[in-house]
Amino acid sequence: MTTEYTYLFKHALKACEQSYAPYSKFRVGAALLCDDDSIITGVNVENRSYGLTICAERNAIAAAIASGKKRFKALVIATPDADYPVSPCGACRQVISEFMHSSAPVIFGNSEDSYISSTVGELLPHDALHELACRG
Ligand code: THU
Repeated sequence: MTTEYTYLFKHALKACEQSYAPYSKFRVGAALLCDDDSIITGVNVENRSYGLTICAERNAIAAAIASGKKRFKALVIATPDADYPVSPCGACRQVISEFMHSSAPVIFGNSEDSYISSTVGELLPHDALHELACRG
């Protein structure tokens, strides 16, 4: 991981402390690098009606939008409770693609030494209607 992504990973990992995951016990933290170099984090928030759970990535994006940021350079996801890197779910891939270019890096890992470096386009190929997305 480059120094920049290690820094983001540390933010994502720290965010995991705020994860609300009493059902799965699987904490996830996400750190978004915004175009202005600020960092916005998000965590997974579960619900006893399981289907209402919202992933860390989508919560990070929602928090960023709410704070007036719409352009993102990179996304790093930490899943410290797994023993291998866990990639974003299908719903998150779609939402990520709304706000990030297909070439933008998405790094996911369970530790600083166990991660996969991917891109939005690799995670969501053949992105239908991509021309309708407002990626800034
Ligand atoms: N989860 C995320 O927050 N992001 C992912 O990329 C994978 C899954 C959450 C949802 C749920 O709270 C828990 O991890 C187990 O699936």
